[in-house]
Amino acid sequence: MNDQQLDQSRLGGFAYDPAPESASLARLADQYGLFIDGAFTDPAAHQQFATLNPATAQPLASVAHAGPADVERAVVAARRAFDGGWSTMPGSERAKYLYRIARIIQERARELAVVETLDNGKPIRETRDIDVPLAAAYFFYYAGWADKLDYAGFGPAPQPLGVAGQIIPWNFPLLMAAWKLAPALAAGNTCVLKPAETTPLSALVLADILVQAELPPGVVNILTGDGATGAALVEHPGVDKIAFTGSTEVGRLIQQRLGERGTHLTLELGGKGANIVFEDAPIDEMIEGVIDGIFFNQGHVCCAGSRLLVQESIADEVVRRLLRRVEQLRVGDPLDKNTDVGAINSAAQLARIEELTRAGEAEGATRHASSCALPAEGYWFAPTVFTDVAQSHRIAREEIFGPVLSVLSFRTPEEAVAKANNTNYGLACGVWSEKGSRTLWVAQRLRAGVIWANTYNRFDPTSPFGGVRESGFGREGGRHGLEAYLDV
Ligand code: NAI
Ligand code: MG
Repeated sequence: MNDQQLDQSRLGGFAYDPAPESASLARLADQYGLFIDGAFTDPAAHQQFATLNPATAQPLASVAHAGPADVERAVVAARRAFDGGWSTMPGSERAKYLYRIARIIQERARELAVVETLDNGKPIRETRDIDVPLAAAYFFYYAGWADKLDYAGFGPAPQPLGVAGQIIPWNFPLLMAAWKLAPALAAGNTCVLKPAETTPLSALVLADILVQAELPPGVVNILTGDGATGAALVEHPGVDKIAFTGSTEVGRLIQQRLGERGTHLTLELGGKGANIVFEDAPIDEMIEGVIDGIFFNQGHVCCAGSRLLVQESIADEVVRRLLRRVEQLRVGDPLDKNTDVGAINSAAQLARIEELTRAGEAEGATRHASSCALPAEGYWFAPTVFTDVAQSHRIAREEIFGPVLSVLSFRTPEEAVAKANNTNYGLACGVWSEKGSRTLWVAQRLRAGVIWANTYNRFDPTSPFGGVRESGFGREGGRHGLEAYLDV
């Protein structure tokens, strides 16, 4: 049997029936305000903007645009809450709030999953099984630390920093909010959170959850807006710490601004992760891992395995199997429970992916795109693999942040390490081999914050995550994640 016959016999000639989750579960309002001092309020300048469903390019809701006056109000509220008891409350009391938030996230999981899928474009399978459960898990995990800070390895009675300004991206909106808020609150800080402009809605549902959890007013403030809102937060002298996840470009800008002031800073920026496959790798698991490494969340993942480095002896077979697997990915309605790959988050991101992939072809790489049909409305990009990629190509160097894999090959472990490290980034890498000693040898030589072995894209609240070089500094998750919010 050839590959195609094999696929047909496996699928038995049956197609998948539509299995959509109901959009009405999102219970969206037409219009949202800013969450300041425990209540939703109008922005001072009365400006609103629309957030779209990227799968249709239709507006979902109107969201408030926070300006400098709103940033001022939020920072003042956060300072008052910090001084007014949150920072000195026994850790065991702060923990109760965090546990409560975690449990309400679980109770409202279905609503959150639908909201996130509508606003972001990612498949419901991912929001339901990954984003939302993990967001709850981070609150549960850091709730456990709140009364144990003395034992976290930072000396006795470590102190919180104060008001944390937290700027998050659009690729994991709720999860990034949880990554930032949970450790900050456990450590006794108060927060002003700025969600990304294309995905503000799950953070606004989270604001409602904070009210439901009776979190004291001002402990968390949520300001929707764009880069100007983020910049105003960075500029505010009342902010003691900035935590940023997003592009290297903006990260660099923020670092320059804060360097002059000495404000605490952690940056989680982009990546160009290498998935290194040796000839003795368990091939079926590896193919699934490589596919997941790049097509999970449409490749909108800072730690995506966007470069495949495959040992030359098995390169042809691996590419053949990858292309076959790419054809099987179901691309389409993100609310459909059978969808593997959803919509690209925005027109701007789609334009970036299209520009970089055009450059890939122009520079001599070969494009293999899935033949899947793409919806007529909204923002879509077919899962794509590039072969004949050279290290100098832009698609091997720049973060594409889309469903695009660049395949390169190597002969020896030394060459694999050299190629994997030939990048300005240093966030994550994967190593696939049956031999533990080889995996460790390679892992010790890779310059990246996270190394996965025979797996990829594994996230766990107990495990620190973060990069080196142009991927940023500071760690989120685990005991290490507390350090970013303590004066140590
Ligand atoms: P971005 O860095 O502009 O946006 C991230 C967040 O920063 C958003 O909340 C945005 O409103 C805010 N922001 C923008 N300008 C700011 C400023 N001057 N001061 C303070 N905050 C500011 O990223 P964008 O434009 O959405 O994506 C561009 C590229 O960045 C992507 O193609 C991807 O390569 C990379 N990226 C990486 C992410 C990661 O997880 N490391 C997440 C998002 C994007
Ligand atoms: Mg949106």
